[in-house]
Amino acid sequence: IDSNTTKEAKMQAICELLKEEVPHYDWVGFYFKNGDKRELKLGPYAGEPTDHTIIPFGKGICGQVAESNENFVVPDVQAQDNYIACSITVKSEIVIPMFVNGENIGQIDIDSNTPDPFTKADEAFLEFVNFEVAKIL
Ligand code: SME
Repeated sequence: IDSNTTKEAKMQAICELLKEEVPHYDWVGFYFKNGDKRELKLGPYAGEPTDHTIIPFGKGICGQVAESNENFVVPDVQAQDNYIACSITVKSEIVIPMFVNGENIGQIDIDSNTPDPFTKADEAFLEFVNFEVAKIL
């Protein structure tokens, strides 16, 4: 097993654990900057397959976080005009950027079928998850 396989497997396990253990996490995935391109590429995820494996910077909640470098909590996805729908069952979303040496290299993206479920505790917890994942990249 090469080190990339190991990293992917670890991130996959984290996605599955978060999805299974947190009732309001219905889709959990990592997106990463795709080389030198101004776009995100889907990494490991747990939940329904998505068509959105590539997201240009600026597009959707994920693409906005790629540019803002800030957490984005969306209590009601239908109220967002710059939003990319993955599933009609999704009501809310949280995207937390991941940093390595101060650079925004990707993000964790979580969709919920529950309206307005995300709190400051989710933000703090997912910042911690990203901090830990960044160490293995
Ligand atoms: N809803 C995201 C797209 C990714 S899917 O949620 C997996 C967005 O608006 O960027």
